[in-house]
Amino acid sequence: PSLEEILSLHDFEAVARRTMSRRGWNYYSSGADDEITMRENHNAFHRVWFRPRVLRDVSKVDYSTSIFGFKTSMPIYITATALGKLGHPEGEVCLTKAAAEHDVIQMIPTLASCSFDEMVDAAKPGQVQFLQLYVNADRTRTKKIISHAAERGVKALFITVDAPQLGRREKDMRTKFEGTASAQQAAGKDNFRRDQGAARAISSFIDPSLSWKDLKELKEAAKGMKVVLKGVQCWEDAVLAAQHGMDGIVLSNHGGRQLDFSPSPLALLPSVTSALRQNGYLSPHSPPFEIFVDGGVRRATDVLKAIALGATAVGIGRPMIYAMSTYGTEGVSKALQILKDEFDMNMRLIGARTIEEVVPSMVETGALFQG
Ligand code: FNR
Repeated sequence: PSLEEILSLHDFEAVARRTMSRRGWNYYSSGADDEITMRENHNAFHRVWFRPRVLRDVSKVDYSTSIFGFKTSMPIYITATALGKLGHPEGEVCLTKAAAEHDVIQMIPTLASCSFDEMVDAAKPGQVQFLQLYVNADRTRTKKIISHAAERGVKALFITVDAPQLGRREKDMRTKFEGTASAQQAAGKDNFRRDQGAARAISSFIDPSLSWKDLKELKEAAKGMKVVLKGVQCWEDAVLAAQHGMDGIVLSNHGGRQLDFSPSPLALLPSVTSALRQNGYLSPHSPPFEIFVDGGVRRATDVLKAIALGATAVGIGRPMIYAMSTYGTEGVSKALQILKDEFDMNMRLIGARTIEEVVPSMVETGALFQG
C-alpha cells in the first residue's frame, strides 16, 4: 500500500510482516519464550479506561512537554532498537532524520547498524539525542563510549539493566544469522557465533557482572549527562535507582524480549510512584527524578494513560522500525505525524489542554491488576 493508505501504527506492522526479509522480521517481532509479556505489554493498556472531562474549552491543545528540560513536541521518544539495517539499507539514520522533522528525541542504541557518529552527524543543529548503553566487561571500552558521547553532545545515558544475558527468542533463533558488520564488531569477532539468531550473536557484548556498585563510576564518567536505568521492573529497584543518584528510570521489560512473565510497565506505575513518594522522591524538594515506560505503545491514548499514571514520557520501539523498514525516513515521519494527530484529537476528547492537565483522576485503573 502507498503511505497515504497507512492510518495507524498497527498498519506499519502489517505491511512489515508481509514485506520485510524473514531475518529482519523475525529479529524485530520476536519476544522471549511464549511471548506472554510481549502481548501483555500491549494488552495492559486495554484495561485502563479514561474518565474524560467535558466543557473545558479545548479549542487549543498543546501536547508538547520536556524530558530533563529538553523540549519535545509530544511526550514520546524513539527508543533504542539494535540492528536497523536488518530493516532498511540506510538503517537508524532514518530515525534520526524523522525525529528531526518532528522535534522528538531519539535514543541511539549501542548496537546500531549505523555508527554512533553517523547518527549524530545526521542530526540537525540543536537536535537532542540520548544514548542507550550496554556495559561491556571491558570498562575502559565502555568509558570511551561514554566520553565520546558526552563530547558529541548526547544529553542522557540510558543504561540497559534488564539484559545480563539476552532472552531466548525462538523465532529469531530459527533464522541463521549471516552477520551484520556492526554486530560482529560489537561482539568482537572471536566470540561471535554465526549459527545462532541475531540476538544471541550480539549478547557476548554485555557484561552480566554489572551491579549497583558500578553506577557511581558510570555516573562520574557521564560528566553531567543525565543517567537513567532502562529496564527497572519493580518498585524496590526504582527506589534503589533514586538512592544511587540516578536521574530517572525506564520501566521496561525490553519489549517482552527478556524475561517472559515480567509485568507490564504500565501496571508497575502506581506502585513505583507511590514507593518513590514514600521514600521522599518526586517532591518539589527532592532531586528531579523522571519515570519513563516503554513496551506495547501503539496509540496516543496509550501514552496518555501512562502520563496520567505518572510517566514523563513513553518510549516507542517496534512501530518506528516497522515504519522505517517499510517506507524509510518518510515512513517514520508519517508514524510520528499519526501520533501527533492522535494526541491533538484525544487531548480534546479527554478534556486536557496541556500535558500537565493529564492527571491520575483522568484514568480508571480498577481493572488494570486483574490481568
Ligand atoms: C529492542 N530493545 C533494545 N533495548 C536496549 O536497551 N538495547 C537494544 O539494543 C535493544 N534492541 C532492540 C531491538 C529490537 C528489534 C526491539 C524490538 C527492541 C528494547 C527497546 O528499547 C524497547 O524496550 C522495546 O522495543 C519497547 O517495546 P515496543 O515499543 O517495541 O513494544
